[in-house]
Amino acid sequence: MRPSPVWRGARSGAFPDTGASLVEQGAAAPLTEITSDPAAVTVGSHYGGGVTGPVRMCPECGRQFEFIDPAWRCCGVPMRLAAPPAAPVPLAELAGRPLTTWRYAEALGVPAQLWQTATLGEGITPLLSAGDGISVKVEYASPTLSFKDRGVVLLVAQALAAGASKVIADSSGNAGTAVAAYSARVGLPAEIFVPESTSPKKIAQVRAHGAVINLVPGNREATAAAAIAAVEQGDAFYASHVYNPVFHLGTATYAFEVWEQLGGRLPDTFVLPVGNGTLVLGVTRAVAGLLAAGLIPSAPRIVAVQAANCAPLAAAWRAGSAEPLPVEASATIAEGIAISAPARGAEILAAVDEIVTVTEDQVLSGREELARRGWYVEDTAAVCWAAAVAAEDGAWGEVVVPLSGAGLKTGWTPASHA
Ligand SMILES: Cc1ncc(COP(=O)(O)O)c(C=O)c1O
Ligand SMILES: [Zn+2]
Repeated sequence: MRPSPVWRGARSGAFPDTGASLVEQGAAAPLTEITSDPAAVTVGSHYGGGVTGPVRMCPECGRQFEFIDPAWRCCGVPMRLAAPPAAPVPLAELAGRPLTTWRYAEALGVPAQLWQTATLGEGITPLLSAGDGISVKVEYASPTLSFKDRGVVLLVAQALAAGASKVIADSSGNAGTAVAAYSARVGLPAEIFVPESTSPKKIAQVRAHGAVINLVPGNREATAAAAIAAVEQGDAFYASHVYNPVFHLGTATYAFEVWEQLGGRLPDTFVLPVGNGTLVLGVTRAVAGLLAAGLIPSAPRIVAVQAANCAPLAAAWRAGSAEPLPVEASATIAEGIAISAPARGAEILAAVDEIVTVTEDQVLSGREELARRGWYVEDTAAVCWAAAVAAEDGAWGEVVVPLSGAGLKTGWTPASHA
């Protein structure tokens, strides 16, 4: 079956008839059809030959890895991007481009045909004022209802480039859901590992996309270990949002969008959730790219938020340690950030300005406050809002918080009706 085209015109998609500019009505963009038909892709056998893309490097030994290389770890540590992302082209040039994260193609650096084959229309999420200097970016308005789509589209493009015949991922739920959906989009079988405590609706979502799901007893680290054991036993592509830094190029588009939506500037403060730090690391990379290109005068403050019940990075930040501290983690309703030993802990600590924690009660009231304003989010997606409303008046200036996952992922009911 021939897949349907992704883009029938630059004006289709999230904001029909408002012009392609995220800021104001832009000049009419020409109607073009970019095919998503894999047969139309002319790059060698499968997608391998001649494909270039972001190069990764090992921070220990310096070895470099081409985009088509499925290696996911070197010297036992996660790789990094060999070069920081380029900045987006100037605002005037962005106006008229298709309303997808592909408008930041220069920063993503992933071959267009691969991305067009894998996309489900991620990105370009609304940025709305919620009053009191806080704006929310509605990341749950993403194809699989969480921000993870921004990074997963690139991992699946890479799996295609590598000629993979199967994909494996581990997750607290949302990244696994996204890998299942994007793999289905390109016709790759997927096997997803999640903790057995994962919200049933996320598990159902993974199953609906036809992926095999493995429910792993124990914590998130046990889930990662089970997935890695399966990767090592076979020849599946490891679509790891934790180990693969290509993911950070995708999450960098969150900050590029905010920059564009604010008319070419960033807020005073980004408040971001941190479990494995994929949004934090993408945003800080994007900020570096914007600074290097002279597109912003200074870096915004980056505040990361952990659940008080599982806060190895907040503990390290308070103690002035460059490495995450071992913690006795207890259960948290913020399942997406329940990471007691983040693999990129030191990298995250070096990237942020401040790390704060929120209690379970703050998360519960945060999700209810958001819902009362019209935004129904899952518990994890309420942590940044909870931190921002608890911050000392004006201390962070103008703040942007992500609503990183949909309430329907957990389907919570307000306390008054529980
Ligand atoms: C809804 C939601 N918000 C935030 C996060 C945290 O992202 P990260 O682990 O990349 O820091 C996750 C991770 O799964 C998530 O699902
Ligand atoms: Zn190495």
